[in-house]
Amino acid sequence: MPAYRAPRGTRDLLPDVAAGLNRLQGIARSLSVRYGYREMEIPLFEQSAVFERGIGECTDVVEKELFRLTPRTEESEAWALRPEATAGVVRAYVQHGMQTWPQPVKLSVVGPMFRYDRPQAGRYRQFWQWDAEAIGDPGPAVDAEIVELGYRFYVEAGVPEVQVLLNSIGDPACRPGYLETLKAYFRRHSAELPELELRRLETNPLRLLDSKDPAMAVLVAAAPRMGDSLCTACAEHFAAVRAHLDALGVPYRVEPTLVRGLDYYTRTAFEYYRRGAEGQQQALGGGGRYDGLVELLGGRPTPGIGFALGLDRVLLALEESGRVAAAEAPPLAVVVGADPADTVSRLRVAGLLRAEGLRVRAELAQRKLGRQLETASRDRAHFAVIIGDELAGGDVQLKDLEAGTQRLVPLADLARYLARAEKTHRHG
Ligand code: HAM
Repeated sequence: MPAYRAPRGTRDLLPDVAAGLNRLQGIARSLSVRYGYREMEIPLFEQSAVFERGIGECTDVVEKELFRLTPRTEESEAWALRPEATAGVVRAYVQHGMQTWPQPVKLSVVGPMFRYDRPQAGRYRQFWQWDAEAIGDPGPAVDAEIVELGYRFYVEAGVPEVQVLLNSIGDPACRPGYLETLKAYFRRHSAELPELELRRLETNPLRLLDSKDPAMAVLVAAAPRMGDSLCTACAEHFAAVRAHLDALGVPYRVEPTLVRGLDYYTRTAFEYYRRGAEGQQQALGGGGRYDGLVELLGGRPTPGIGFALGLDRVLLALEESGRVAAAEAPPLAVVVGADPADTVSRLRVAGLLRAEGLRVRAELAQRKLGRQLETASRDRAHFAVIIGDELAGGDVQLKDLEAGTQRLVPLADLARYLARAEKTHRHG
């Protein structure tokens, strides 16, 4: 057992997995461009208050899972690693006066998040999200656009049978009345409540519906539902979101107990699941509307909606469904040499080809030409560029390892020749 290992709950992404993650990030970035969500970066850590106020003090994410950084004595601010991107993006929206930009401002972040979760498959302490936010549009059309955008990601990534669970959790007009009904219900069952839930009953009763404690399942199933208490404006908004999704053909199911684990949500809330995996608390992604968050973090009242998709869970889902996340292409050519000691020429020629954008390896081991050519075949390279005495006259031997042919090519034409060969090879 090695003395040093990656911290519990984190993973080294070895090249195959990293290539899979890169592919997903590429799909996310391409979709962001197509849908007009502009990519931005926010710090990996923020003032803890951004998360405490934004996400809510009485949520699992803040109460149990926040990675707090110990402040140095000269720094009075308390910081925490970002457990998600929404609070940071909204903090940036307010800080940089984005309310003066044309609304809505559509933003996207791709990167690692940190939660001090109990590690298990699909639940890590460092994990990757693609986050998209549309700030400044009250909906309902943008609600449907964002739900469809997330859904399209799974389609393009090749995750089979994803469906959307959808709910409306009301707004400040109708939720307080519902919360009173909910409190009254759970108070009647207070003897059956685990300690944490008993504490949250008075401060944040909605969280009880999202409890991870198995003892709560039966109580939650029979609890009063927000859907029955929606005010007219929320009910109309929810109906319009559903009508848009119906028209777009996004498969969804209304799930009356879905409340999400973060406090900032209003009205539309949704999660993505593999069909049949809805009960396992392993959502592939989730999001919702947060019409009070900009104001909560110091801005003018501004509506917003967004999602975050868990890329690690998408990789797992692809693996489980037997799909290869990404296959790496072999080098187009390996540069080998008749003189084993002449690594300078091999590097120089490889450098010329790489500068032209070609995928090339230089064989740097000082062994006989035959052994060098073996490594080129092992790499499944299409060509070997053989450097010999001809180099003095400006030529190299080009061996087509797939066809078994060999010809003399002027060094000046080599890049063009290889690029053409690659194109015809790739496109048949
Ligand atoms: P969330 O539901 O907390 O929402 O996280 C979104 C997704 O991130 C989850 O559905 C899951 O796929 C992934 N995820 C969360 N925790 C872990 C973990 N420990 N290990 C692996 N994957 C994980 C948010 O983060 C909100 N910011 C979404 C949002 C954006 N709402 C509005 N805008």
